[in-house]
Amino acid sequence: MGIAITPRQGEIAETVLLPGDPLRAKFVADTFFTDAVRYNEERNMLGYTGTYKGKRISVQGTGMGVPSVVMCVHELACEYGVKNLIRIGTCGAIREDVKLRSVVIALTASTSANTENLLGLHGVHYAPTADFSLALSAVRAAERLGIPYKAGSVLTSELFHNAPNFTKKWAEWGLLANEMEAAGLYMEAARDGANALAILTVSDSMVTGELTTPEERQNSFTDMMKVALETAAAVE
Ligand code: HPA
Repeated sequence: MGIAITPRQGEIAETVLLPGDPLRAKFVADTFFTDAVRYNEERNMLGYTGTYKGKRISVQGTGMGVPSVVMCVHELACEYGVKNLIRIGTCGAIREDVKLRSVVIALTASTSANTENLLGLHGVHYAPTADFSLALSAVRAAERLGIPYKAGSVLTSELFHNAPNFTKKWAEWGLLANEMEAAGLYMEAARDGANALAILTVSDSMVTGELTTPEERQNSFTDMMKVALETAAAVE
């Protein structure tokens, strides 16, 4: 039994979607799953298992930031046998060509977090990377659904407020957007022998200061969820 989550064995599917916000886990279950069963309420980190297009899939809230997502991913992979972990979250664009409401498929996630050191990797800067098959499936799903996307690198930062000062530098290195969990997900999944991908909605622009309205957020989140669900359904 985990600390962050406390379901019984067998209650979680091999493929899990991971929103930061637990209420978004509930939204996915209510909107897209048939036969949804809630398996976790621990710390209000709602988790559900259900069926999408004939495939058993779970959706689990992770909370915000690298430590929270790492804890959750560790327990899902190591204690509950989860094989495929697909984050669905938001990000802030750090380049002008990354448009509000579009989807970012994070192929890599550079980070200010010290996780690789804590996990015992010294002397190199690890490159946290998405699983190629999941990323390819997500790209194909976005193309099929006509949802605008960019696939590339993101920054997993440990700051939300007061962070913009250095984002220009990161943009010069080709990063598309800033968020707070993907690198933790990729590193922990790699250590656990699981596959991971982060699919993100651009909810604001750190370049122009634009913000999505609550209604736009809901619609664009739904687009991202569809891409993630199609990706999960395509897992062999
Ligand atoms: N930083 C900036 N903007 C954002 C983030 C973030 O981590 N997440 C969503 N929008």
